[in-house]
Amino acid sequence: MSDMPGESKLDARLGSLLSARQKKGRFRSLKEYDTSASSRLTDFSSNDYLGLTTDASLRAAYIARLEATETVLGSTGSRLLSGGTCAHRALETRLAEHFAAPAGLLFNSGWDANVSFFSTVPQPGDAVIYDELIHASVHDGMRGSRVLASRRVPFAHNDPAALTAVLQTLDVAPGATVFLAMESLYSMDGDFAPLPALLDVFDAFVPREQQCVVVDEAHTTGVYGSRGRGIVHALDEGNRVTVRLMTFGKGAGASGAVLLCSPILRSFLINFARPFIFSTAMPLSTVVALEAVWDLLASRHGDAKRADLTRVIANLHTHLAPLLARTPSSLLRLPDPTPVPFPGATGLDPSPPAPIVGLLTPTPHALSAYLLERGFIVRPVVPPTVPPGRERVRICLRAGVSDARVAELVGAIGEWAELQQNEKARL
Ligand SMILES: Cc1ncc(COP(=O)(O)O)c(C=O)c1O
Repeated sequence: MSDMPGESKLDARLGSLLSARQKKGRFRSLKEYDTSASSRLTDFSSNDYLGLTTDASLRAAYIARLEATETVLGSTGSRLLSGGTCAHRALETRLAEHFAAPAGLLFNSGWDANVSFFSTVPQPGDAVIYDELIHASVHDGMRGSRVLASRRVPFAHNDPAALTAVLQTLDVAPGATVFLAMESLYSMDGDFAPLPALLDVFDAFVPREQQCVVVDEAHTTGVYGSRGRGIVHALDEGNRVTVRLMTFGKGAGASGAVLLCSPILRSFLINFARPFIFSTAMPLSTVVALEAVWDLLASRHGDAKRADLTRVIANLHTHLAPLLARTPSSLLRLPDPTPVPFPGATGLDPSPPAPIVGLLTPTPHALSAYLLERGFIVRPVVPPTVPPGRERVRICLRAGVSDARVAELVGAIGEWAELQQNEKARL
């Protein structure tokens, strides 16, 4: 008898579910690429918008901080047990001050923070109104909450008129709270929420004392606003936004998140949020890294990184515009332009450039494979992540990428588009 177990019933069942997924072209698998300096690949899919993961001065500062710190590995337990350290508390205090928030609570990830908040804070009788493109973690949180499904209502993406329509029909008991959930920058089309307009609508229908506005700044943390303090801060909307989620896995080049909120909300989460209570606290190595990251983000070097990202974004659009002008839009196009998100803003460009560019094409896998052969990692995004007809490759830009490399990327996209058109003409 072989000592290798045969295929279990479970494996057989799961295998057929995976095959079904594969047939739909939705199979996911892990792909690892060598993106080290010596490799020929340039990563245009990374969320490391400021290039901090490879920044030499940050690396040196991090190592120096580690050398000077006694405990640098795991945190050894939940924050409520042995994992609660002065280092965690000091970082939280620093971040709350940096973002001009009353308080902050660290989480191991933005996912944990959203699930914690939305599964715990909204109470029966409350309502949660959310942008239809809100991140999956908010959906998972809401699903775990005690708010009835009928009182969790989406509104059409970034659309103040759609929010108005939802609020017009919402009945709210005097003691209840209405939660409004959105992101500052959406990661599929790279479009900003028209935050002031949405908040004006909310104000028109819901008294302030019954509001709880939650803005997920995952893609803007460190990248936008003075010292990278994000969109809400830059727009001076801190008094209308109750909760902000700032994550560390993207522009901050690390991992984890801080939820900025009132001291009461912080205490409530410490008492009731299961991902916070029953999970080992953020490792001290990450806490140390984040101290070094925030030294950088709040410095001139941080300003230079943000300015450099703006250069890279402008450069991409300069090269892309003539290519798109000569290519049929059925083959390649950008999402339709959106209204200026922050008209009249003073602390921020009224329509800031975004580091995420969705290039819509009906055959994103083919384009992505072509680009990979030429040394560019650009990932395809297909349903169910985006609706059918909105397939695209997603180009993520990063400070430090040379003008020449951006030109080469666009050149390769152009070659592919030409091949497609020639092929079509031949048939
Ligand atoms: C808008 C948004 N919120 C939350 C998250 C989750 O953050 P994290 O990666 O830290 O878990 C992401 C990550 O993709 C995100 O894009």
